[in-house]
Amino acid sequence: MAGRLTDRIAVVTGGSAGIGREIARKLASEGTDIAVADINPAEETRALVEATGQRFFSAKVDVSDEAQVNVFAGEVRDALGPVDILVNNAAIVPLADFDNATFEHWKHTFAINADGPFLTAKAFFGDLKHSDAGRVINITAAAYWTTPPPFVAYASSKGALNGLTHVLAANLAGHDVTVNAVAPSLIQTATTLQAVSEEFFDQTVRMQDLKRRGKPEDIANTVAFLASDEAAFITDQIIVVDGGITRR
Ligand SMILES: NC(=O)c1ccc[n+]([C@@H]2O[C@H](COP(=O)([O-])OP(=O)(O)OC[C@H]3O[C@@H](n4cnc5c(N)ncnc54)[C@H](O)[C@@H]3O)[C@@H](O)[C@H]2O)c1
Repeated sequence: MAGRLTDRIAVVTGGSAGIGREIARKLASEGTDIAVADINPAEETRALVEATGQRFFSAKVDVSDEAQVNVFAGEVRDALGPVDILVNNAAIVPLADFDNATFEHWKHTFAINADGPFLTAKAFFGDLKHSDAGRVINITAAAYWTTPPPFVAYASSKGALNGLTHVLAANLAGHDVTVNAVAPSLIQTATTLQAVSEEFFDQTVRMQDLKRRGKPEDIANTVAFLASDEAAFITDQIIVVDGGITRR
């Protein structure tokens, strides 16, 4: 399908569900072939992407496992070609306040949320630097600034991802690759509908300037813009997409 992103190839980690699935669908609707790395099957995402006429590849990959990520990078190249857009979306949100956060909890959170994006950036660096429109887009979180107490490891891992965004932007600029992050606040997905009460959603909406729930489309639209030529002069930015709840 013709669009702003015709003839590009994107990797979306954690693209089987939630925000990642919508990012995959949106990028495909703009003309991009999609590869998904996820620990869960991506058949629903496959159907959405193939319905747009774009090619799709997925593999079972734990983004915290260097060997799996490197094998995946080779498989994507064989299946679709060299990658132009890397969207680091896979993450976990395990809850523990500082009192209860064990070192294992901390390391596990960082392994997926911070090591994962480092490993994928390493694995696809060779592709990105040869692309005419190379993009890295990291999905971070407004929780880095709002820091709810049970988010000790999660918010810290997103801080590490913000740091990686900053240093990668400087390191890849010489290859004309832009590196940015998108920071959602509470977005309604199957996961958050299970994890969060209706009352908490309503309370969050009341605290936002814009009085509605955040949707995966709000994040996917921002990612598509950052991936497009229209955003070619934007790098090293964290775009907060939160209906106006985060004051920073
Ligand atoms: N939903 C929100 O309210 C919200 C708010 C702020 C930030 N975010 C961020 O947005 C991104 C997506 O969140 P979501 O709500 O769609 O989450 P989700 O739980 O619905 O989806 C996450 C996906 O990542 C996959 N995944 C988990 N561990 C993995 C691993 N080790 N390797 C590969 N894949 C793995 C899961 O299988 C799943 O498909 C995350 O980075 C999250 O931190 C979400």
